[in-house]
Amino acid sequence: MNTLGRFLEKLRDSLEQQTFVKITLSRGRGESGLRNVYGRLVELKAGTAVCFTLRHASRDVTRNDAPADAPRAIEKWLTDDFEEAHLFTTTGDWKLRAEHGGEWKMKAARPTFSAALGTSHDRPKVKAIGNAQFLVKLGVTAADGTVRPGMADKLRQVERFVEILGHLVDGSPLRDATAVRVCDMGAGKGYLTFATHEFFRARGVAAEVTGVEQRADLAEQTNRVAAELKTEMLKFSQGAIGAFALPDNLDVLIALHACDTATDDALAAGVRAGAKLLVVSPCCQKEVRREFSPPQILRGVLRHGILEERQAELLTDGIRALALDAAGYDTSVFEFISSEHTGKNVMIAATLRQTKKDPAPVREELRALMEFFGLRSQRLVELMGM
Ligand SMILES: C[S@@+](CC[C@H](N)C(=O)[O-])C[C@H]1O[C@@H](n2cnc3c(N)ncnc32)[C@H](O)[C@@H]1O
Repeated sequence: MNTLGRFLEKLRDSLEQQTFVKITLSRGRGESGLRNVYGRLVELKAGTAVCFTLRHASRDVTRNDAPADAPRAIEKWLTDDFEEAHLFTTTGDWKLRAEHGGEWKMKAARPTFSAALGTSHDRPKVKAIGNAQFLVKLGVTAADGTVRPGMADKLRQVERFVEILGHLVDGSPLRDATAVRVCDMGAGKGYLTFATHEFFRARGVAAEVTGVEQRADLAEQTNRVAAELKTEMLKFSQGAIGAFALPDNLDVLIALHACDTATDDALAAGVRAGAKLLVVSPCCQKEVRREFSPPQILRGVLRHGILEERQAELLTDGIRALALDAAGYDTSVFEFISSEHTGKNVMIAATLRQTKKDPAPVREELRALMEFFGLRSQRLVELMGM
């Protein structure tokens, strides 16, 4: 039996013996436009199937094959389209690679996963990330998993974020995705960017994650950590949120604590890119406070600076939620982390709606609200042309 045949036999055995975890095809030969294929098990009404995500440059196609048919599909892709395959099972991992001249070479390694990944109904919850390597590298925890002095709030924030992300993904069209594209705008030191990557990795989802950060030193530092950790498909790009060209098939847009209207720039870019999930936590909203002119009846209340600031924040986030609703998203606004730990604790999460809803009433509500507060424009509303 040749090397490709032996690899396919490993795949067939793993599917039959239920030790299969996932399979990834990479190094596309280019002609078909296919960049990757990712396969994992899903539980359908008709029984277990292998769900393949076929990744092209600008779109993903998903299909389900019966486990008995999957090796034939993989054989065809490896013959026609790809030069590398990685099979993960609970008894071992196998990497198949075409050498120069097209000859296949196969390497075995110890299993990365000790248990099969959950199918759609019983996904493992990613909770304990306290001992993840990226936290050690980023100075949040020590090598033994203990929290470094002064980093307890950061760890709590990261863990809470991952917990929320899990709920949001499970309630979104990404629930059973095998591959996702994520962008984290205003990534800073990368805590949440690495956490997001780790979250998807632990779910067995191939995540291509990009952090966008305007500070060159931070982008350089986080890229270095990603290289040291050999974190696949995670990179940081130096530049401004408003100028970053997102792929047009983005799945998740994250922007936590991006200053002032940078949150609006990120949201508008995410909506334009068709992101299925938007997760932002705004920071220091200044625009509306500068621009609004509330009605006389509120003047007495808003002469107190702190109340004026809170009113402006409330209005800004309310406008953002309505604008996202009008753009086709089911939106929720909630407390991200207790205000005891940080003042920047509001989160806006928006999931792309699966069924159409007439945006006219929400647009009208938005217009009336802005008029009430004497607000002629707001960055997100302007960017979305509402
Ligand atoms: C408060 S930090 C938050 C970092 C990270 N998102 C977190 O929550 O841990 C905000 C980061 O966003 C970056 N930032 C702010 N405005 C930006 C813009 N317009 N384009 C790119 N980065 C921006 C800042 O340089 C900073 O590193």
